[in-house]
Amino acid sequence: MMLAITIVKGVHIAALLLWGAGLIGLPLLLAEHRRDDGQIQYQRIRRFTHYGYTHLLTPAAVVAVAAGTALLFLRGVFVPWMFAKLALVAGLVALHAWIGNLVVRMGEHNNRRQPSPPLPLVIAGLTLMTCILLLVLGKPDIGTDIVPDWLQSPRGRQLPVDEVPS
Ligand code: HEM
Repeated sequence: MMLAITIVKGVHIAALLLWGAGLIGLPLLLAEHRRDDGQIQYQRIRRFTHYGYTHLLTPAAVVAVAAGTALLFLRGVFVPWMFAKLALVAGLVALHAWIGNLVVRMGEHNNRRQPSPPLPLVIAGLTLMTCILLLVLGKPDIGTDIVPDWLQSPRGRQLPVDEVPS
């Protein structure tokens, strides 16, 4: 069991290093594109960003999330800081999708699209990753009292649908 946890955690960290580096690097690369670039330069940056996204960044994200999900069950860490971390990971996934959209848009508009400024994306990525690392390394004791009472106890109400047969 201990060995399995070590291996899966190693895979988790290796994949998220790649994913995180890509989330910072790709917006910077996309911003290198100039509207008046020649066809050769355009083709190079277009290929690099496209294959970087589809063959490196997205697989790394899938492996990081899959290994993280496996770890969740191996370690049984169903605790508030982990749920806070998962909410922030959802933000990273949204950022990932947004960057994918920029990659596609650069292709759709041929050589004429003005690149988006990379700074807001880089700042968003770095902020999310720093907060995730602070949570996962500090494992703060958040407690359940920040959740309102009505979410913590049964309300004794009828289900809006017929009950599932037992
Ligand atoms: C759906 C996505 C993810 C899931 C389900 C997940 C889940 C987990 C779990 C269960 C652990 C083991 C915690 C423990 O042993 O106490 C872990 C460790 C870790 N995770 Fe994630 N994680 C995800 C994404 C991420 C991301 C995006 C980052 C960083 C940006 C990250 C950084 C880390 C680090 C650094 C560790 C090692 C912490 C330690 O051993 O003390 N994880 N993750």
